[in-house]
Amino acid sequence: MYYDKRGIAYTASSQEAVDAFDASVDEFLASGRDAARLLKRIGEVDPDMIMGQVLRGYFYRLPALPHLAAMSGDALAAAEKLAPGATDRERKHVAALAAWCRGDIRGMNAIWETILVDHPHDILALRIAHTMHFFLGDLAQMRDSMARVMPRWDESVPGYGYVLGCRAFSLEENHDFAQAEPLGKRAVEINENDIWAGHCVAHVLEGMGRRQEGIEWVDAHEEAWQKRGIFAHHMWWHRALHYLELERFDDVLDAYDRQFWKEPSQDNTDICNASSMLMRFDMLGLDVGDRWDSIAEISADRVDTRLRPFNDLHYIMALTMSGRRAEAEAMLASMRDFAAENADKGVTIATTYRDAGIPVAEAILAHGAKDYAQVVDIMMSARYRMLPLGGSWAQRDVWERMLIHAALKDGQHSLARVLLAERTDMAPTSGPSWNMYAEALDACGEAAEADTARTKAAELLAA
Ligand SMILES: [Fe+2]
Repeated sequence: MYYDKRGIAYTASSQEAVDAFDASVDEFLASGRDAARLLKRIGEVDPDMIMGQVLRGYFYRLPALPHLAAMSGDALAAAEKLAPGATDRERKHVAALAAWCRGDIRGMNAIWETILVDHPHDILALRIAHTMHFFLGDLAQMRDSMARVMPRWDESVPGYGYVLGCRAFSLEENHDFAQAEPLGKRAVEINENDIWAGHCVAHVLEGMGRRQEGIEWVDAHEEAWQKRGIFAHHMWWHRALHYLELERFDDVLDAYDRQFWKEPSQDNTDICNASSMLMRFDMLGLDVGDRWDSIAEISADRVDTRLRPFNDLHYIMALTMSGRRAEAEAMLASMRDFAAENADKGVTIATTYRDAGIPVAEAILAHGAKDYAQVVDIMMSARYRMLPLGGSWAQRDVWERMLIHAALKDGQHSLARVLLAERTDMAPTSGPSWNMYAEALDACGEAAEADTARTKAAELLAA
């Protein structure tokens, strides 16, 4: 038996194999570029290391890409063969991978949580459970998962900073900005490469509408984070959200073209960044040129593959907005088929499609057809069912904006007025939201209130 740097036991042929495993997990925790090479190294050192096979399976599943997901079955088969000689903890990891491969994501998360009861230093189980709770929109589980392990972690345990970053993000997504911010900042102090912790602080600043600070936070760490992997693009997207709210539209497009979509990408976070920013831009009545086309081209290859509803909605936006409506409708049909076929088979995302993915996709298609009344009809209830789509509040906000945009376009001014009253209450530093509120108030004949809202917007945008 060999041990990792936190004292977790591994079935392996040598310490070198466990060290290679540790290095690969470290790279995963730091969103590094080298995860694939380090994973290969484990196989070279010890092809029969069961946790090496499990990690391979996890890494194939995480990106939600069809060609990689298809290979996870091989990793599972190899791990299952090795399971009889493994520890109880390792066999639970194999069971988690098996659950993932059959689509039982909630069951998989429950297995990782069982591991963490006895092995709170299993940082792979901890971080991947954190990620997958987030993917399911299980925010209470994400928060509580971290709270349960924290008493077992302190600065003396290797990787503490990464755990602090996860704890911080779990608090942030539960709107506890006050607790989250210092923890996220401390994690970045411990290790500037901890881009996930840095991302948590970016979310705090976005959620609180602290625009200038949000820009400065990313600026201050840009040099370190651009050496990280693809996830750095998401940080540039966060900075561009602040530009958008400050109506620095040229900076948004510059960031789009040079930073977060400088070339077409197969990565889902890249696609979501690009698609949702263009949708926001478009709904403000701004010209995005032919930028939809390259996202749509990649999305068109995924019409028939259902791995994550959240990503699919970004593909459908790109297909719809670039005029490839037939492919968008084909993807919606595939979502319906998938939900119907899998809802009773314990496939977690089947119910997500049924309850949230399909209605929001229908609303996106209606929006593309300028059937704004239909968008309002769908989204007034669907907006409260979007949490299981996963992603962050900041990401799902694009569909909240779509509802308001549709209400304004459809002449439902009173509805737009109350939705914007809600929005300016939740995000009181958003200049564009106050301007939209003024527009709705004017349309309702409330000129004095509209002037107040417009003044507020001007003050915010001049600050
Ligand atoms: Fe984010």
